[in-house]
Amino acid sequence: MRVARTIPALRLALSPGRVGLVPTMGSFHEGHLSLMQAARAECNVVVVSLFVNPAQFGPNDDLKRYPRDEERDVRLAEEAGVDVLFVPSAEVMYPKGFGTWVEVEDTGGEGAARPDHFRGVATVCLKLFNIVRPDVAFFGQKDAQQAEVIRRMVRDLELRLHLRVLPTVRDENGLALSSRNAYLSAEERQLALALPHALEAGRSAHAAGSDPIAATRAALNGLEPDYVELIDLEAVTVLAAAVRIGPTRLLDNVVLEGDLR
Ligand code: PAJ
Repeated sequence: MRVARTIPALRLALSPGRVGLVPTMGSFHEGHLSLMQAARAECNVVVVSLFVNPAQFGPNDDLKRYPRDEERDVRLAEEAGVDVLFVPSAEVMYPKGFGTWVEVEDTGGEGAARPDHFRGVATVCLKLFNIVRPDVAFFGQKDAQQAEVIRRMVRDLELRLHLRVLPTVRDENGLALSSRNAYLSAEERQLALALPHALEAGRSAHAAGSDPIAATRAALNGLEPDYVELIDLEAVTVLAAAVRIGPTRLLDNVVLEGDLR
């Protein structure tokens, strides 16, 4: 039992303190773990959701073969100091008769390349926010357009939470970590390095006063981009691109202007 002698002390005793949420689709890598660590550093209670959200996959997307390893994820989340891992089933998140969707407009090249993708992302994140009621939610800059979609939903719908967008974690060769990298053969992994290299070339071009998009396209080493574009986040402008390597689709971006908060 605690004895509370002041109103703030009573309120603190009645509340769990600051609740942090890290939404994920599992198959954890250091990018996910960096979000969990940031949440652990800032929040009293850290909740991670692990849900491979069918609503954000298109009919030709990789829902069936998306990598899953719950046992390993439980272990890694535990090691990262997570308090609760929320692993709902599709029936829990989308019960029979489910029919309400959040539609965020103007979702850039990524939205154009994946119809209904961000509708699925925004809807599942709003549901998770309502279920967990976090004070802070953590996202990765790696999916910059996704972070922008969530930021606009939070602003447009007056959601009471803060967002943190954290820097992209890369492997020793510069490839952005992604659960989808597991699909790449050794040879494809080599080809994939053209994506971060080309974005770096774009960043250098921008710093030198020339067109970052043209410079990125020119340095893609034969990789066909779905798009190369600038995305304005709250405090930063990023140069973003998506490429396909065989059946695998990879995203990446670099900061051109501003500082990630
Ligand atoms: P998922 O791809 O599992 O990513 C979960 C979070 O980790 C996202 O915020 C993503 O941007 C971040 N992340 C992924 N790779 C990263 C890296 N290399 N460095 C830093 N952060 C990284 O994104 C999703 O899941 C889903 O769309 C979700 C938001 C959970 C909604 O279903």
